[in-house]
Amino acid sequence: MPNFPNCTDRQKALEQYRLRAALYDSELVAFEPIRRRAIERLKLAPGAIVLDVGCGTGLSFAPLLQAVGWRGHIIGIEQCPEMLNLACARVAQQGWPNVTLLNTPVEISHTPTQADAALFHFTHDILRNPDAVDNVVQGLKPGAHVVAAGLQWSHPWAWVTNWCVMMSAMYSVTSMEGLDQPWSHLAKHLEALEISTESMGGIYIASGVVAR
Ligand SMILES: C[S@@+](CC[C@H](N)C(=O)[O-])C[C@H]1O[C@@H](n2cnc3c(N)ncnc32)[C@H](O)[C@@H]1O
Repeated sequence: MPNFPNCTDRQKALEQYRLRAALYDSELVAFEPIRRRAIERLKLAPGAIVLDVGCGTGLSFAPLLQAVGWRGHIIGIEQCPEMLNLACARVAQQGWPNVTLLNTPVEISHTPTQADAALFHFTHDILRNPDAVDNVVQGLKPGAHVVAAGLQWSHPWAWVTNWCVMMSAMYSVTSMEGLDQPWSHLAKHLEALEISTESMGGIYIASGVVAR
């Protein structure tokens, strides 16, 4: 039985993103360079199948498709219908034939095939649920590249940065648990783990390869 966040947390997560969906893309503009750097770390080859875990409105689709090309495929997994509707509209508007969208919580998602890579971009709630992480990793090939990026606590003395992290987290996650090492559950499945930081240490990018 997967470890579901309790009902209140799940409702809170759905409500957070139902309310944010319409403005979400404009709120993220300043963070787009981080998305590009995170996607570069996936080392995607043309033809690769990539999971976009908690894909939101699909802001990662264009750079992912640029890397995997028309022979590649994106599988986007998203539980919030309002966010996913915007992702669907983006796919329809661009006429992308190689994007599959799944409207489901990650912890019970079934991907149709094993993937070559997975992106967790600003998905703290998902990363802090070990069952959700396990389920994603089970859908990956041995040797698959995985990248996670998002908010983290900076050094204790970096109080301005940590204040910004706290304000952003209050607006975008249901629990601040694990903000000291958001990738810790994922790290158990990965080899060659590399962590880098951005924005005065308030944002991390973690990358690694699924153990063979
Ligand atoms: C901050 S947004 C990030 C969206 C996208 N990855 C991006 O970089 O723009 C977090 C997303 O994760 C989704 N999410 C949170 N918990 C989830 C879960 N258990 N299963 C699927 N999606 C989830 C939210 O609905 C939201 O769309």
